[in-house]
Amino acid sequence: MPEIKAKNPDQAAEQRRFTRLRMCVNFRAGDLLPSCGARGAKELQPVLTEKLAARGDFLSLEPVHCMGKCHAGPTLKLLPGGPFLLGAQAADVDRLLDLLEAESYDEAAAAFPDPARVGGE
Ligand code: FES
Repeated sequence: MPEIKAKNPDQAAEQRRFTRLRMCVNFRAGDLLPSCGARGAKELQPVLTEKLAARGDFLSLEPVHCMGKCHAGPTLKLLPGGPFLLGAQAADVDRLLDLLEAESYDEAAAAFPDPARVGGE
C-alpha cells in the first residue's frame, strides 16, 4: 500500500533546513558600546514577529541577549547551524522574509552580510 503523505504546516516546517531565527534584542543606552537594540532591533522585533505570524510562523523567533556581533546588528541567526543575518531594519522585513520563506539562504546572507566575512567594519 502506498504511503500517504499528510500535508500540514508543522510537517512543512520540519522539512525546512532552518526552523528557528534567533534575534538579539539587547539594548544598551548611550554611545559607549553598540547594541542591536540601539541599532534597530527594538523597532525590528515587533514587525518581524507580526509578519512571521502572518506567514504562518515558518520560523520560530527566539529573542536573546547578545551574540557577539553588537557592532553590526541587529543580529539574526538561522538555526540550527545557519548563517548570521546582520543589519536588517524594520523596513527590510518583507524582503528578508521573502528570501527566508523561499529558502534562499545564501541570498539572504549576502543581502545582510557579516562584515567580518566580507572585510567590512
Ligand atoms: S548586542 Fe546584539 S549581538 Fe551584542
